[in-house]
Amino acid sequence: MNICVIGAGYVGLITALCFSKKENKVICVEKNLEKLNMLRNGTPTIFENGLNELLKESLSTNSVQFTENLEFGIRSSDIIFIAVGTPAKENWDVDIAQVEGVINQISPYIEKYKLVVTKSTVPVGTQRYIKSKLLENNVERENFDVVSNPEFLREGKAIYDFFYGDKIVIGCDSGKAEETMKKLYEPFKIKMVLTNPETAELIKYTSNALLSVKISFMNEIANLCNEVGADIDVIAYALGLDKRISPLFLRAGIGYGGSCFPKDTKALVKMSENHNCNLEILKATVNVNEKQRVLPVKILKEYYKNIEGKIVAILGLTFKPDTDDIREASSLYIIEELLKNKVNIKVYDPMVTKEIKNIFPDITYCDDMYECLAGSDAMIICTEWSEFYNIDLFKAGELMAQSVIIDGRNILDMKNIKDANINAYYSIGKGNIKN
Ligand code: UGA
Repeated sequence: MNICVIGAGYVGLITALCFSKKENKVICVEKNLEKLNMLRNGTPTIFENGLNELLKESLSTNSVQFTENLEFGIRSSDIIFIAVGTPAKENWDVDIAQVEGVINQISPYIEKYKLVVTKSTVPVGTQRYIKSKLLENNVERENFDVVSNPEFLREGKAIYDFFYGDKIVIGCDSGKAEETMKKLYEPFKIKMVLTNPETAELIKYTSNALLSVKISFMNEIANLCNEVGADIDVIAYALGLDKRISPLFLRAGIGYGGSCFPKDTKALVKMSENHNCNLEILKATVNVNEKQRVLPVKILKEYYKNIEGKIVAILGLTFKPDTDDIREASSLYIIEELLKNKVNIKVYDPMVTKEIKNIFPDITYCDDMYECLAGSDAMIICTEWSEFYNIDLFKAGELMAQSVIIDGRNILDMKNIKDANINAYYSIGKGNIKN
């Protein structure tokens, strides 16, 4: 099929390349010229498993083309995927200005039947709104259908998820559109959920919201574990044996981050309020997460009473391992809180980006974890990068001024901690040790 993907961000780029691999001709339209040049030269613009190879392969077979020419993209294609950003507004509403902009720009070029598909995460009702916008822009009714087709890709595993995901959700109100979408996705052999646009749009939010609820709930239970001497990992394992619960997304820690969960949970709360509904559980989920992500600072204050002037080593800045993404990472909130308390901060992350140096220019960036620990009064593990699992605790103890460890992702082995004779160890629901 001839496909146009508008926006070569994380979702758009993966969508374009994965469709190009399934014998479609894809034109990806991007207005950022720097990005465009990189992609044309086969250089990935984001860090994602398998992206480098897939990009080079699709370019070499000419199955994907990157261009800034929107008119060419639209006129050459039967299906148009909108994959532009939908950031959160201050009041938690979703800002769909970029989607609106795209609709206005593409309207003049829709002169024969095309499918307009939203891949971006958009509030419920957007498909209907796009339809009215196209009509308002004088696009003939018989020349388009609008479809909601949300994505469920995880960063780091996005290409795998595109080819082997659990589900494809297609929301439309026309038989013709449904048939085309089914044909497009048939080669992927993934279960399809065919429904109306509102349901499809709400599936996306509900999915991210329910996963966030699971995490916040386990984090609250983890905090209780520390009070009563229970072990959250064993609880999670036992719960996961129950097929009704599933073992995934039960890992306690210092909260969820990233570009999706924090934004989408708040957006769903706001969206429900706009419809006079009150999502109490989701509101609590958001609140629990906001407290959980700065829990290490609370622990440090309890330990030291006064943390002013202390040196704290932060291990891991990204919102999860195997990505260079720091958006809404717990580390950002912890650093901010520590700075308010006049703490000196040293950080180490294997993928640290220029971006964070712009946010926090006055903290110390280290090249390895031991350099980061040297002379510090505490270490906070914020991201479970694989190299942190094997940290040499004896060496850490010798290097640190005071070996106070806050294991925000529960990755260290309790037995090794006991042997290592450190000053204090705090976990998230697996018990604490104070020597
Ligand atoms: C998430 C969803 O998993 C995807 O299905 C969805 O498509 C995507 O958002 C999106 O809406 O675009 P992602 O943001 O890549 O994907 O990250 P996850 O791997 O889901 O992790 C999110 C956060 O939850 C991370 O900060 C992670 O550390 C935390 N988490 C995850 C936990 O604290 N505990 C867990 O058990 C699992």
